Amino acid sequence: MRKLLIMLTPAAIILLAAPFATAQESQQPAPAAVDTAKGLPEWDKVYAVFSHPRCADCHVADDRPRWSGAHYGGTRVHGFNVQRGADGSGFGNPGLRCTTCHFSSNSKALHGPPGAENWHLAPAEMVWFGKSSAEICAQIKDPARNGGRSLQDVALHVRDDKLVAWGWAPGADREPAPGSAEETYTAIENWMAAGAPCPAAQ
Ligand code: HEC
Ligand code: HEC
Repeated sequence: MRKLLIMLTPAAIILLAAPFATAQESQQPAPAAVDTAKGLPEWDKVYAVFSHPRCADCHVADDRPRWSGAHYGGTRVHGFNVQRGADGSGFGNPGLRCTTCHFSSNSKALHGPPGAENWHLAPAEMVWFGKSSAEICAQIKDPARNGGRSLQDVALHVRDDKLVAWGWAPGADREPAPGSAEETYTAIENWMAAGAPCPAAQ
């Protein structure tokens, strides 16, 4: 009797788990669940933030953070020959780490280094700088390129992460990203509820 119970248990677990597995799958953009009329305007709000210089200047494909947008007078690579770092960590090369200049809060001086806890470049696969709305949309939905995150994790990262928060409080006359962290979080949630549609590639 006992043995039978033990043998049944794994099967019972599979049966119990099945409805959850199905629910999770339906979160993926199954064609029927996608509402582009509702979802694309929400994505546009997210894209306006992700592509903004306060976010994209740290989300680059190569080894150089960017200085761009109002306040910088043109787009260029970060001064002082700052690099991602030979170890690929995003914290810079030994001897010229980001944290040599970037502290945990913004310098008050105009053109002084901004700051937030743990200042470093995003991994190269999380590239937004110079990318189209369709490209950023595809990246953000791809766990192989977004740090293994579900879309829910992405939304929470946007709401709670300190480097992300800096984008709305960048200091010293820098233009902040549009909206707020909370509004962007809500836009991601609404976009997900509409099946997370991506715009057509241009
Ligand atoms: C100082 C550099 C820096 C800035 C500025 C920055 N990020 Fe990031 N971002 C990172 C790093 C580093 C990671 C990787 C963190 C990890 O995977 O744990 C990251 C990862 C992310 C992720 C995870 C998923 C993915 O595919 O990229 C999101 C979402 C994100 N950032 C949003 C933003 C938004 C929105 C802004 C602007 C409001 C912003 N970031 C500004 C450095 C930055
Ligand atoms: C030698 C000092 C120094 C080092 C090292 C340094 N920075 Fe900076 N960084 C600055 C200064 C100064 C500014 C502000 C420039 C301005 O406002 O004109 C700045 C601005 C920035 C900005 C703001 C761009 C924007 O969109 O507003 C980012 C992002 C950035 N740095 C990333 C990094 C990263 C990532 C590293 C390490 C890989 C790094 N920095 C290393 C001095 C430094």
